Order: sequence, then C-alpha cells, then structure tokens
Amino acid sequence: MNDKIKEAKDKIAEDLKNIMDENTLQQVKAKYVGKKGLITDLLKSMRDVAAEERRELGKKINEAKNHIEILLDQKSDEIKKVLREKTLLEEATDFTLPGRGMPIGAKHPITQVMEEIVYNFERMGFEVAEGPEIEMDYYNFEALNIPKDHPARDMQDTFYISDDIVLRTHTSPVQVRVMQNQLPPVKIIAPGKVYRCDSDVSHTPMFHQIEGLLVDKNITFGNLKSIITQFINLTFGENTNIRFRPSFFPFTEPSAEVDIECEICSGKGCRVCKDTGWLEVLGCGMVDPEVFKSVGYDTEVYSGFAFGMGVERITMLKYGVNDIRLFFENDIRFLRQFV
Ligand code: FA5
Ligand code: MG
Repeated sequence: MNDKIKEAKDKIAEDLKNIMDENTLQQVKAKYVGKKGLITDLLKSMRDVAAEERRELGKKINEAKNHIEILLDQKSDEIKKVLREKTLLEEATDFTLPGRGMPIGAKHPITQVMEEIVYNFERMGFEVAEGPEIEMDYYNFEALNIPKDHPARDMQDTFYISDDIVLRTHTSPVQVRVMQNQLPPVKIIAPGKVYRCDSDVSHTPMFHQIEGLLVDKNITFGNLKSIITQFINLTFGENTNIRFRPSFFPFTEPSAEVDIECEICSGKGCRVCKDTGWLEVLGCGMVDPEVFKSVGYDTEVYSGFAFGMGVERITMLKYGVNDIRLFFENDIRFLRQFV
C-alpha cells in the first residue's frame, strides 16, 4: 500500500507534464481523485488494513491526496493563463490602423436658409407663429378675400382634400389665425411648408414659404419697403439689385412682387429667370381692409403690411442653384456642398 501511495505521488507530475487543455486535465483528475480513481481506491481499501496501521496510512493517503489536488489546481491555473494570453494576442487592437470615419450629418440647405431668414427677422423684432399644413378653405382663401368662385383661385393650383379642406397653398392663412387671437400690434413671421400642383425648374409641388405680418397704427408702404430691403441686404449682401413690381393679391392693396437680379446669369437672362434677368422671390402689400374686417380689426385705426416669400427661390439665388428639384433628390454629392 505504501508503494501504491508513493507511485501515485510520483506519477501525477509526469501525467500532468504535457497537458495543455482542460479536457485532458479532467481525465487525469478522474484517474486520481475521481469516483474510481487511484486515491479513492486506496481510501476504500483502508477497510482491510489492520487497525493499528490505519491511522498512519490514512495520514499518508490524505497527504498524497492534498499534494495531487494542489498540482491539479496549479495545472488548471496554468492552462487558463496560457489561454488568456493567446486570446489577448489574437484579439489585440492595432492602434496603427487608420480609423473608420463616422460621417457627420448636416442640415438641409433649405433648413439652413430658412433658419437664417427667421433669425434675421427675429433680430428685427418679429416673433415666430405657426399654422396647420392641412388647412380649412376658409383660412386659405375665404378670410383672405378670395371667395369660392373668385378667379384668383386659379392663380394657385390647389390640392383639395374635400370641398372645405385643402393643403395650404401659401402661409398667408397663418395671418388670419394670428389676428383672430391677438389684438394689434402684431409683428410675426410664419415659416412652413406649402403645396401646389406645379412642377418645373423653378416650381415644386411642395415648397417652403415664410410669411410676414406687421399691424399697428400708422404703418405705411414705406415701412414695408424698408423692412424688405433690410431683409434682402442681410440675406444677399448690401449690393444686391432688387425691384418692387406692381402686382395683385386679393388680400393686399396695393400689392407688389419683389424681384432679385438673377445671380445665376448676373441679369443676362437664363432658363431659371425665363430670360428676364430677374427672379421673383416674394409677394407683398398693405393688408386689404376686407381681411381686417374678417378678423374684426378697426380699419380706421390700424393698418399693416404682409409679405410671403419662397425659401427655395431664395436659396437658389443665394447659392446659384439652377434647378429647384435638386433640393429634393437627396443626392449626397449635391447636399455635401452646403455643409
Ligand atoms: C403668395 O403665395 C402670397 N401668399 C404671398 C403674399 C403674402 C402676398 C402676403 C402678399 C402678402 P405667390 O403665389 O406669388 O404669392 O408665392 C410667393 C412666392 O413663393 C413666390 O414669389 C415664389 O418665390 C414662391 N413660389 C410660388 N410657387 C412656387 C413653387 N411651385 N415652387 C417653389 N416656389 C414657389
Ligand atoms: Mg407670384
């Protein structure tokens, strides 16, 4: 029995020597301290040992068992360590590789210009107002002095949702909504999307307008001219050529349209300005007394002006874009130029 104990202690080191994986280690473990292992067998055979020798032998077997278990544990640690180092080496980060870039987004050019315009008007004391894109016929037309069978409705190709509901064709209905809820003085701008059944190099079915409305005592066409000229100078620079051209809107009287010299052809004439050298950017005028009546303002006391501009047109002029549809094709090569 003593021999067997000694043999077990000697052989374990040799058995463990070349083991490099956990599975084989488990087999060796079973061979020594498993249910049918050498040490377990030795412990079982203690039954047959004379009582006086039992104490001494038991001690030796336990010593051997401890010794073997320590060696098994050491081996297990060693295997784990080697595995860890191998993984670390294989999965190591190569800090010399060039980084993978994270593309940076940017605001759409129309959003950029819209925010710039809004900011410029805020500097002149205007507040931002908003209204719905799905609008009642009443606000889009009727309250603006455009009755149901008025020929002026033909000026705007309207998307009708029902007889009484339309996709707003301009931001002017916001004027009415604001005046219904507020007494003068009123000084607002209303940016937003508008819709018309229209499509060519300078027209899209959805585009953006910014409406402006100023109502107070003693407001004249001179105030309108001054605000519009300041706005154009802030947006396009001091030396921009502009002209006020007499026009007609049912909700303003007198009315004008403002043209900016076409920057795409420097006023020589091109397909965008339809060979006129000028591009219309906004409509404006003194608020028609009929509109004041529909919101209950006293036309003897108050006067005011309103304007409505096309943001796409302004962006085209500002950046020399010769086709409005480019803004909505989402071609990244086009959009990247405005970052
Ligand atoms: C109006 O929409 C009036 N509500 C403007 C107004 C407001 C006048 C307040 C008086 C007082 P108009 O239909 O001309 O007017 O459109 C205004 C601007 O929108 C035009 O000058 C043009 O710059 C732009 N625009 C018109 N139709 C389109 C379109 N289909 N695509 C892109 N821009 C357009
Ligand atoms: Mg027009």
